[in-house]
Amino acid sequence: MNSFSSLLQENRVFSPHEDFSSKANISSFPQYDELRNKANSNILNHWNEQAMNLHWFTPWDTILNWNFPTAQWFTEGTINASYNCLDIHLQTANRNKEAIVWEREDGITASYTYAELHERVSAFAYSLQSLGITKGETITIYMGMNPEAIIAMLACARIGVVHNVVFGGFSSDALKDRINDSQSVCVITQSTTKRRGNDVALFDAVSNVLPFCPTIRHIICKQKPDLSTHDITIPIIDWDEFIHHEHQLEAIPLPSEHPLFYLYTSGSTGKPKGLVHTTGGYLTHVRYSFSLVFDPKPDDMYFCTADIGWITGHSYVVYGPLMHGMTILIYEGALNHPHPGKIWELIQHHKASILYTAPTAIRAFMSAGNDIPHSFDLSSLRLLGTVGEPINPEAWMWYHTIIGNSTCPIVDTWWQTETGGIMISPVPGAIPTKPGTATIPLPGILADVVRKDGKSASANEGGYLVVKHPWPGMARTIFGDDERYTSVYWSEFPPNSEHNGMYFTGDGARKDDDGYFWIMGRVDDVVNVSGHRLGTAEIESALVSHPSIAEAAVVAKPDDIKGNALIAFVTVMKDRSIDLDALKNVLINHVAKEIGSIAKPDDIRFTESLPKTRSGKIMRRLLREIVTGGVISGDTTTLEDFSALEKLRSDED
Ligand code: WTA
Repeated sequence: MNSFSSLLQENRVFSPHEDFSSKANISSFPQYDELRNKANSNILNHWNEQAMNLHWFTPWDTILNWNFPTAQWFTEGTINASYNCLDIHLQTANRNKEAIVWEREDGITASYTYAELHERVSAFAYSLQSLGITKGETITIYMGMNPEAIIAMLACARIGVVHNVVFGGFSSDALKDRINDSQSVCVITQSTTKRRGNDVALFDAVSNVLPFCPTIRHIICKQKPDLSTHDITIPIIDWDEFIHHEHQLEAIPLPSEHPLFYLYTSGSTGKPKGLVHTTGGYLTHVRYSFSLVFDPKPDDMYFCTADIGWITGHSYVVYGPLMHGMTILIYEGALNHPHPGKIWELIQHHKASILYTAPTAIRAFMSAGNDIPHSFDLSSLRLLGTVGEPINPEAWMWYHTIIGNSTCPIVDTWWQTETGGIMISPVPGAIPTKPGTATIPLPGILADVVRKDGKSASANEGGYLVVKHPWPGMARTIFGDDERYTSVYWSEFPPNSEHNGMYFTGDGARKDDDGYFWIMGRVDDVVNVSGHRLGTAEIESALVSHPSIAEAAVVAKPDDIKGNALIAFVTVMKDRSIDLDALKNVLINHVAKEIGSIAKPDDIRFTESLPKTRSGKIMRRLLREIVTGGVISGDTTTLEDFSALEKLRSDED
């Protein structure tokens, strides 16, 4: 992993390569600086101008209605997301341009022009409406990475139905929670998706949870399976029979604040929360950030490897690129299957020009060796991006030299499900980059690093990453739980005599002497595993739901590929005599069943008791130090049970 260490002098700066800058929309720092000064000196005016780049049925009077911590953007305007992704292209050269190019692991391919995608979405929206599904109701989409999933999202948006996409890797239990919490009336799914040569049975997962999901009235299934083995009381609608191409539905004008989607994400406590994103502000932020960060050009082939089950899939596979008339490449399956170089083959074959992926994927490809990417022609690439977790400088250098031929800029983009769109990122033609930092906030985004008292931290002083002014893509609330929204994001820095309240991201960061933001990871009990956010509380509650387990504490341990590995400390029920080795596997599989494979602990450690403070709080800090092999430091005098500590230490030996 250290082959690039010699290239990595402290704070090495990479200026934008001339090949890139000379053609970039924003091609110099002075040009960028002018935009930033203008934006930050009048933030509302800035977003007002950005909103005008969208298609609106009717304009707005109010740019921002801010009633801490509730935001409404472009309040009186009416708009439609599907119209802004599809209809706006029909009278332009994009009409017959490919919108989606799709490949599946087993070699099946398909593509859709903008006109074809528009036709399918309009027909699907018509069919949804004819089922009696109405504006404001919610549909859960549980599918693999394919054009139908995107058609389903855009069809919902076309008629004001809220989509709730659940990642196909989540288990049926996790699916059930998300269907019920969002009160979905319909599930759109497919018989199976492909993953590493296996058929993943999505429909079966839906069918298993149906008896526990009373709000569901309809199921629409791509490749309707043989139902003879299923005991289902509601009709299953076959996708192909459902779409009637002769019926086309116009996009419905919706209020700017109409919810576009809910997306569930892990928090530090309790069950995942459904973040609510609305239409006008979200589209404004996503369109603007896409344009600055990805510098779109008409002949780009854009490849973002995120699954639509995550926010990156929503904002930068679907809405951002389609609003810009891009051709998007999507792959249903694992990017190193059927062979380890599949991702590079896709780039070569489709001449992808922009690649946007996660550091964990970069590290995995890096560990497979340079010969694999070197055996493909990657010269079509002009811009590289990363998202989801900090990228270590070694992986950055590898991405830059081996994949980007030392000419492609890297945009390291920091943002969150909650922020809707990118917040901190280089603008690639203008901002010099340094391996490991997302650089500076986009113009119009007032991010800062502050101390506990809310005052700005000094250069190089670690602190809390916050946002000091509302922005249009911000989540409006947690579905059904305004209080939790306020307490999680807005209670750390409420308004006072010095500021008007700040959004707390949950991340720690520092700014260096150049004002570049270095993200130091979560400061709460959220762990980033392979770029996926997992709440330790969620995994702990899955563990204790097993009858043999009394208590559980989950902590992160740094991992070369995944960023973090999950280590669970558990105590078993006293009255049980159990084969611990066997139980370990049972528990790992139990978590996979409760949440999904991504949440599986990498190791389970059994202990007699867990170290706790006098008030009964598990001392995770201590456990974290134990798993990282560090010396236990800090004040342990409040430990209730020192023997627990001793036991854990000896387990470590
Ligand atoms: C982390 C993904 C460092 C961060 C879009 C954040 C990052 C969480 C970066 C959000 C980055 C995301 N550098 N850390 N470029 N991007 N993160 O909601 O901890 O899945 O709070 O959104 O990922 O994860 P989420």
